[in-house]
Amino acid sequence: MGPVLSHRLRDLVEYDFPAHHSHMRGLIRDGTSPAGIAEAAAKLRAGGLVAIPTETVYGLAADAGSSEAVGRVFDVKGRPRDHPLILHIHADADLARWSVDAPDYALELARTFWPGPLTLVLARSEAVRDFVTGGQSTVALRAPDHPVAQSLLKEFGGAVAAPSANLFGAVSPTTAGHVLTDLGPRLDPESDLILDGGACSVGLESTILDCTGSSARILRLGGLGAGQISKVVAVGDAADLAAEPIRVPGSLASHYSPDARVVVADVGVRSPQVDELRRIASRHCEPEAPVGLIAPRAVSTPDGWTRLLAAETTGQYAHDLYQALRGADEARLDLVVAVLPETGHVDPKTGQADLESGLAGAIADRLRRAAS
Ligand code: TXA
Ligand code: MG
Repeated sequence: MGPVLSHRLRDLVEYDFPAHHSHMRGLIRDGTSPAGIAEAAAKLRAGGLVAIPTETVYGLAADAGSSEAVGRVFDVKGRPRDHPLILHIHADADLARWSVDAPDYALELARTFWPGPLTLVLARSEAVRDFVTGGQSTVALRAPDHPVAQSLLKEFGGAVAAPSANLFGAVSPTTAGHVLTDLGPRLDPESDLILDGGACSVGLESTILDCTGSSARILRLGGLGAGQISKVVAVGDAADLAAEPIRVPGSLASHYSPDARVVVADVGVRSPQVDELRRIASRHCEPEAPVGLIAPRAVSTPDGWTRLLAAETTGQYAHDLYQALRGADEARLDLVVAVLPETGHVDPKTGQADLESGLAGAIADRLRRAAS
């Protein structure tokens, strides 16, 4: 058991459970049923928390106008209060309600990519409260591309503040079951619920763009590739990111981590042989320790290792990555060796090269953070 695991377990054990575990199942509702949506909207209005499916990952949503509800989001996640949340809005919502002075290029991006895996950081309007933005003068806005999230936002009528529905620093959830496992013990079946909308289609968080300057700058790589964005608007240099006062905890070095140790194989675009994978593992664990492999399908699995992911395409790699990292902990592996997707490979489904789709970059980013 690594120090991270024991720390998290202690956290959970010491938490004052609002409900007995057997009540946890009572948290899940069918997000595709009108009754599920109506009940979820009622819970939001009453100050409860609703875990929602989006195309990227599941979010833990609260009424963005309620300081108590938003405060509980931070408590349930174990997230510091000064780390700002994304405001999720309906695809038809008026940007001017939540932001001021949005530059033309930001309006163009919203028109082109919303609903979708793109978050825009803009100067906030009076309607956005300090407890959502951690006191910052900017707000992160996104219209998620998921019918369940859109139905709920329509029924609710306002905006919801929602981070990914995982414990702070841990792997994001891509199914309702992941949310139940991670946060179920901390949610209250009386006031909260989890809307099941199936597995998230993208599987990685949204791309975050700072739109407060003269051109868009990438703050976090994600589900929408830089190549796609730069076909629509100019994307400025993100090189001075470290010097920014803007807080993006998803950019903390150690984030998205399972309890197993993760090592990214430094093999460039080559397909490594099993001997090479064994050599890499031997530098990080005992000879008999259980090891897992996350890699494109072309990479063979060394005998005795657990294959956690064998992706045919980069899209599939992104879709299944977080499930694979969770699988490492379920199988109680000590180490995970990850081979990054090849860049420049053309996805047969979209016909787009990986460098264009940008998913390969986002995958590499998440795996490096999981590894540190
Ligand atoms: O795909 C996603 O973005 C998912 C789904 C649920 O929408 N949400 C998500 O939320 O990943 P979260 O809280 O795990 O990550 C949101 C990131 C954080 O790193 C946060 O610091 C950043 O957005 N953020 C929020 N408001 C910001 C702001 N005003 N300026 C800069 N970064 C901001
Ligand atoms: Mg997150």
